[in-house]
Amino acid sequence: MRKTIIAGNWKMNKTNADAVAMLTELKAAVAGVENVGIVIGAPFTALSDAVKAVEGSNIKIAAQNMYPKASGAYTGEVSPEMLKAIGVEYVILGHSERREYFHETDAFINEKVKCALSYGLTPILCVGEKLEDREAGRTDLVNETQVKGGLAGLTKEEAVKVVVAYEPVWAIGTGKTATPEIAEETHKAIRKVLAEMFGAEAAEEITIQYGGSVKADNAKDLLAQADIDGGLVGGASLEAESFAKIVKAGM
Ligand code: PGA
Repeated sequence: MRKTIIAGNWKMNKTNADAVAMLTELKAAVAGVENVGIVIGAPFTALSDAVKAVEGSNIKIAAQNMYPKASGAYTGEVSPEMLKAIGVEYVILGHSERREYFHETDAFINEKVKCALSYGLTPILCVGEKLEDREAGRTDLVNETQVKGGLAGLTKEEAVKVVVAYEPVWAIGTGKTATPEIAEETHKAIRKVLAEMFGAEAAEEITIQYGGSVKADNAKDLLAQADIDGGLVGGASLEAESFAKIVKAGM
């Protein structure tokens, strides 16, 4: 049975001190929550202290990116080895902002996914169509291309360790959420692609999160859908109270 995972994506927000303060509050707010995975994607500068801040709790820490090499002459980049060494467990990969502003391709994201897995980090692979894709009827095609590209070459055993986050780009930071029905339809289509790639059994095991303006007041309806197994939450993950409400909507 796949696991419900609610992950926060802080993006380029919070100093180290802000991160620790929020996590200290969140720890208390979600204490005792057992059947939902809780993950916070903090900026690189806050990761080390974030891991320490959540020690002994049910919260795991994610990086928001990584470079797919152990070490080397890659100025400004951070490696999976460095993330592992400080206790980071998840890594968000292929977020639409990285695809858009940093020109990340499916092939590059695929390298990152494989590399993350080889270090025992759990990749959260983000996929999602832009508004013009949806309007042109290309939603399923775009998601299929990104899922197939991002997960190319993985074994079934590796694939079940990946979390997929479906985030329609038109719903990110816009306040426009896909209706639960629209989101469910796309999640189903994504699971079908996963079944084609790795078999129906593996596809049933893979957590597919929804992301894009998830808030405390819409989380329950989204998470009630059969193929929506969690959320990747941007804006509403910045405050402990609102994020804890979303986590609890997944219980
Ligand atoms: P949002 O961001 O919740 O602020 O729309 C989601 C994301 O980009 O992961």
